[in-house]
Amino acid sequence: MGTVPTTVHPESNTQEGKTMKALAWFGAKDVRIIDAPVPDITEPDDVILKVTGTTICGSDLHLYHGEILALQKGDILGHEFMGIVDKLGPNVTNLKKGDRVVASFQIACGECEYCKQKLSSFCDRTNPSTLMNAMYGHRDAGFFGYSHFTGGFAGGQAEYVRVPKGNVNLLPIPEGVPDEKALYLSDVLATAYHCVMDTGVKEGDTVGVWGLGPIGQLVAKFAFLKGAKRVIGIDQVAERLVFAHDKVGVEPLDFSTHKDVVKRLQEISPGGIDVALDCGTFHQPKSLLHKVEKTLMLETDVSEIANEMIMSVKKGGRVGVIAAYAGYTNHFNIGALMEKGMRFIGNGQAPVHKWWKEVLDDYILTGKLDPTFILTHRVPLEDFPKLYAAFDQRKAGVIKVFVETKFSSPPAPGCPKTTRVDEWAN
Ligand SMILES: NC(=O)c1ccc[n+]([C@@H]2O[C@H](COP(=O)([O-])OP(=O)(O)OC[C@H]3O[C@@H](n4cnc5c(N)ncnc54)[C@H](O)[C@@H]3O)[C@@H](O)[C@H]2O)c1
Ligand SMILES: [Zn+2]
Ligand SMILES: [Zn+2]
Repeated sequence: MGTVPTTVHPESNTQEGKTMKALAWFGAKDVRIIDAPVPDITEPDDVILKVTGTTICGSDLHLYHGEILALQKGDILGHEFMGIVDKLGPNVTNLKKGDRVVASFQIACGECEYCKQKLSSFCDRTNPSTLMNAMYGHRDAGFFGYSHFTGGFAGGQAEYVRVPKGNVNLLPIPEGVPDEKALYLSDVLATAYHCVMDTGVKEGDTVGVWGLGPIGQLVAKFAFLKGAKRVIGIDQVAERLVFAHDKVGVEPLDFSTHKDVVKRLQEISPGGIDVALDCGTFHQPKSLLHKVEKTLMLETDVSEIANEMIMSVKKGGRVGVIAAYAGYTNHFNIGALMEKGMRFIGNGQAPVHKWWKEVLDDYILTGKLDPTFILTHRVPLEDFPKLYAAFDQRKAGVIKVFVETKFSSPPAPGCPKTTRVDEWAN
């Protein structure tokens, strides 16, 4: 479908004769560690980072399942990473070699009408994909390691990454904040905070959270920090339900036991919940009907969570969708949405630039939030292929993982020590 002109470009120069380890996509459930050329400064605003911490996100599972368009064999994945500035282009004036920084998962230009409002995920000038224009009417920003649908930029599940527009897409991290506390500003911390802020969780609210992966756990935590009275967490992974209860104070609702989630919510929160937040995943249909429709490509996405949220909120309630969706869904209860006068909010890909400093300054530095509570495992980069499978199967109570490279510092006190995925219990 062609491309549109942008201010940054995914094609990268490479450093002569130098190679690095990186995780690359080769097909559905086929990701491998490859030796790739080390990227070099290509445009004057570029920064080359030595990666000291990276991870896997629930969004990577959509790629792993082949649910996102426009992936190419050999694409380097990863959009949540941090590191040390190794090389800078001549236009990067606010950083120096050796600075420790976190990258935002989106590549923003810093200058367009969206970037001026810090709505970095909506940047108009960094994603050349006309396919996204055709499907959505507009384009998101370019993202690291997230297919050619979002620009085809190499990602951060690697030892080095090229960060275009390094002036704006890197946040310096103060000394004393270990990598384990900083890394997740790249995505899940900013994303969870955005979901809660954008949907407007208020003092005294009863909040339902669908999906208790890393996003759901952090959303629940931020909802309490914003004054929610009750948070009810819906999932079927026993360890995640227990984790949310024990670490965050969430009331667990196991949908494998309570098949009718709406009925159960009406029992435990008569009159309805104030806010419903979708932190689930669009590729796990529950009903046979959606399984069939999805397999036959009659829909790309599943409306089950959306409908449960619409049915469970009070009249005039609020629904936020931070979980990623790809395209179209059937059986969406638009009638109830209209009749109940609710706000149904697509939270968008989170604008990390809008929130990362606030989360760092007001929550992490003040100690109001220790984000390492979501951290369950630490593994070396070589284990990425096994980690994709284990994270997909939610093995061994995994919530969030810190993936180390040869440039990482030793684990911070109180954080998980390095293990191998093969050693994890089932
Ligand atoms: N908008 C953004 O900027 C942004 C950023 C990061 C992640 N995300 C999205 O947020 C979602 C959550 O991410 P994550 O890393 O926590 O993923 P995850 O895959 O680890 O967790 C998803 C959880 O949802 C649960 N789930 C599946 N079907 C469900 C259902 N019908 N009802 C309730 N729970 C259900 C799963 O059991 C799982 O525990 C993903 O869709 C991801 O793509 C969005
Ligand atoms: Zn992500
Ligand atoms: Zn922009």
